[in-house]
Amino acid sequence: MRRKQSEYMHWAKTQSRARFNLATSGVGAFPLSELGPLPQLEINGDNSYGYAPLKRAIADHCGVDPDCVVTAAGTSGANYLAFATLVEAGDEVLVERPAYGLLVDALESVGAAITRFERSHQAGYALEPEVVRRAITPKTKLIVVTNLHNPSSVLTGESVLREIGEIARSVGARVLVDEVYLDATYENTPRSSIHLGPEFVVTSSLTKVYGVSGLRCGWILAEAELARAMWRMNDVMAATPVHPGELLSVAVFERLDALRERFRRIVEVDRKVLTEFLDRTEGVRAVRTDWGTTSFLRLAGGDVDGFLAKLRAERETSAVPGRFFGAPECFRVGMGVNHEMFAEGLRRIEEVL
Ligand SMILES: Cc1ncc(COP(=O)(O)O)c(C=O)c1O
Repeated sequence: MRRKQSEYMHWAKTQSRARFNLATSGVGAFPLSELGPLPQLEINGDNSYGYAPLKRAIADHCGVDPDCVVTAAGTSGANYLAFATLVEAGDEVLVERPAYGLLVDALESVGAAITRFERSHQAGYALEPEVVRRAITPKTKLIVVTNLHNPSSVLTGESVLREIGEIARSVGARVLVDEVYLDATYENTPRSSIHLGPEFVVTSSLTKVYGVSGLRCGWILAEAELARAMWRMNDVMAATPVHPGELLSVAVFERLDALRERFRRIVEVDRKVLTEFLDRTEGVRAVRTDWGTTSFLRLAGGDVDGFLAKLRAERETSAVPGRFFGAPECFRVGMGVNHEMFAEGLRRIEEVL
């Protein structure tokens, strides 16, 4: 039977909150009251296949033609729509491990036959073309990766992604790169991997780096013909987007840099205390990264679920169990929401360790 629910998403919605909530993945919430003058809102609009000004804003942001843009409800909606369009039941799909759980759940929901390939802690969670080459078969239809990597925030450079593209092309497969965290590379931000070749499909949104998750402004980038197929698939799923959301999303795009800078400051002070914590703390190890809003901590010899249960019960602090990413020996902490909360959460982790 196909998957019809996500254990991770249910946990995130019902179990992840705590007074010191380190189970977050993106930055904090940006309030509407600080957006500045609001656009003239309207309920209905000309958006059968997307609202043109929003498609243009996304296209300009990503350096593509608007015909290559498909809008969707967050990166979640974008991933599902892309999978539903690209994958037939029984198709072989390669997915990194550790991986964001919902990628696997969504693929199982469309009937994919999933093979996992490792991004190992020992290799610094690097995306290694050789590992992908060993996993691919003539039946592979899609390779799915994240950049930045969720959970570790490791950045994959263009040359490696190009190699992954070549490996995919050799068997007629595509590469889906979920770039929802890419703009948390605050300097020398890489261009989207959509520019690396026609086999690339990219998903992203304004949710994780810009603090406007509630707008659900997500998108897929794909070559124009595939983008049209995705819009037709969307006819079966969501039919048309929410127009007031489109209008507000256009307004956010006009102030995107200011939103990004606002959260960058919090992420950077959080990373500083994370680095100090990792320097002085025995019992956990992590691959250090310059960018990103999450870090994946490996618990030296221990039962992560027991540790997190104690952390919650005795110290009112939460983090995401690594089992949701396929790495049960780890747990994930999130930066960029509230510095006092993050610093105190780390202190409490230290106490329980
Ligand atoms: C890699 C990845 N993709 C997609 C999502 C979902 O993002 P959105 O809120 O835009 O649907 C998340 C959320 O944590 C994520 O980590």
